[in-house]
Amino acid sequence: MTTHSRRNFVRNNLLGGFAAGAAPAAFGQAPAVLRGLRPVVIASGNGNHFKNGGSATCVEQAFRMMTSGADVLDALIAGVNIVELDPEDNSVGYGGLPNADGIVQLDSCCMHGPKKRAGGVAALEGVRTPSLVAKAVMEHTDHHLLVGAGAQAFARNMGFTIEADLNTPKSRQLWLEWKRRSDPQHYLDPDKRAAAGFKTGLAMAAEGLIDGEHLYGTINCNGLSPKGEIAGVTTTSGLAWKIPGRVGDSPILGAGLYVDGLVGAAGSTGRGEANLYGLCSFLIVENMRRGMHPKDAALDALKRIKANTVEKRLLNRRGEPNFNVNFYAINARGDFAGVALYGGPTYAVCTENGPQSRPVEALLSGEPGA
Ligand code: GLY
Repeated sequence: MTTHSRRNFVRNNLLGGFAAGAAPAAFGQAPAVLRGLRPVVIASGNGNHFKNGGSATCVEQAFRMMTSGADVLDALIAGVNIVELDPEDNSVGYGGLPNADGIVQLDSCCMHGPKKRAGGVAALEGVRTPSLVAKAVMEHTDHHLLVGAGAQAFARNMGFTIEADLNTPKSRQLWLEWKRRSDPQHYLDPDKRAAAGFKTGLAMAAEGLIDGEHLYGTINCNGLSPKGEIAGVTTTSGLAWKIPGRVGDSPILGAGLYVDGLVGAAGSTGRGEANLYGLCSFLIVENMRRGMHPKDAALDALKRIKANTVEKRLLNRRGEPNFNVNFYAINARGDFAGVALYGGPTYAVCTENGPQSRPVEALLSGEPGA
């Protein structure tokens, strides 16, 4: 199908008019549902868990706003803001687990399908809601990505409050525990120190001190609005106790997130290095462009990650990846999927039936570390 005929196909089949007698939605405001289109918001599991003391989770908030007429990306960002601001989620925003120096550095990007615009920030310090700074990069600059001190100066100039420290008592205490265990004498050589740091993180997850998914914890949230508009946002504190300045997949267009307004959206959580190597969100959207269902498109990306994981230090006893990567994908019709290398995590969905947590579809059996 040519681009032109595909556009006509989309317009005729999805955007061709309001469904005759479309019933008001049971959840949220009554959306103006377009023929053949099922509005949906999906996110990583934390998108239907944290409420920051309010009444709605990320996917609920985003779906309500989107079906009440808000811009699709504004709705998604309002959703992830709940998680960024919640001190109990130590994988995102305020209270995200800090880097090896105890400093919280945040990454985020967003993409707007209809506007064909995007923005991102990486290694941003001092702003609780990096997703809003990513959106400001999209709206107020000619650029797609600002990093470090430059990203912070931009945020300050845009009127964001810059805080000296985004640690919460909990994230600070967990960093201290990591430091005590991984670097007791401060004299390890860099290789041993990095290996010890990662191993210590895994041990702390195994003991239940931190959620294993939060070592690389992140939120990705993608939506298809009743108007057929698609957008996505990803926001994270990145790898817990990372080398200062390390940037993962989350703020990188094509890796942590990719959106094509006519095709769909995909985003990720989990080990960013594995995803960055294959730019898997871009791959998933391209797979959907060729007609694959979101689930098959995303499982294909996981197979690529498995094939590209050959270093012994990254393999478990079965010779398979010893980490997890999750993808969340939707297409322009409202089909969606949440997949992961290994089962266990849930993903969040909100449709006219309300919010739900669903198990991800796993590519591999067993657990990453076992
Ligand atoms: N996926 C989040 C990260 O690796 O930073």
